[in-house]
Amino acid sequence: MRKKIVAGNWKMNLDYQEGLTLFSEVINMVKDEATGSQQVVVCSPFIHLHSLAQLVKGYTNVAVGAQNAHQAESGAYTGEISAKQIKSVGAEYVILGHSERRQYFGESNELLAKKTDTALANGLLPIFCIGETLQQREANEHFDIIKSQLAEGVFHLDADAFGKIVLAYEPVWAIGTGVTATSDQAQEIHAFIRQELAAKYSQQVADDTTILYGGSCNPKNAAELFACADIDGGLIGGASLKSRDFTDIVKAFN
Ligand code: 13P
Repeated sequence: MRKKIVAGNWKMNLDYQEGLTLFSEVINMVKDEATGSQQVVVCSPFIHLHSLAQLVKGYTNVAVGAQNAHQAESGAYTGEISAKQIKSVGAEYVILGHSERRQYFGESNELLAKKTDTALANGLLPIFCIGETLQQREANEHFDIIKSQLAEGVFHLDADAFGKIVLAYEPVWAIGTGVTATSDQAQEIHAFIRQELAAKYSQQVADDTTILYGGSCNPKNAAELFACADIDGGLIGGASLKSRDFTDIVKAFN
């Protein structure tokens, strides 16, 4: 059975102490909630990772992740952080291909394919984000965009390596806007993604892949989204910065 995941993406928010306080609250609230195949992941800024990974020891259903990693193993890349460094502090996941990285830092599918390889080679589990802009949706290009992001970003992987990837569908027009995709719109894309996975790999791989929805997910709409057949959880931005909202979203599974 595929894993159910609610992942928080703190983005570039919270100073060191604020992050620790929030995470402690979240652990206390979710430690008994996330059970079985359900997992809670918090993707923090790099500065928090080591401390959060220490706090999470002993809780098998809570993990921490980074929001980016460099494609090179190591070297003269001033200011960058490697997958190996992230792994060495106890993080398990890394978000790759977030639309903010694609938009503000010019990350292409080709670059993201390299980042994915390096993350996997260092034992990190990528949460690989895909999704169309409003302009692309209005031009009815959303299926083509999703298809090429998958084909160019992750379909070079063999089935074993692909099995370690979590996908996140985040329509760019829904991120931080308060405009959530309707559950029908989200389900339609998630089903399409699973169909692409079945065509590329196998029905088994398609059935086993966790596909998260992200974009203005909140305690009010989470239950309806998570009830969709092909939605296996959420990637939560703004609402992950409030312990009550985030844990209410985790509880939306139950
Ligand atoms: P919001 O939940 O703030 O819309 O952000 C979603 C997101 O980008 C998560 O990666």
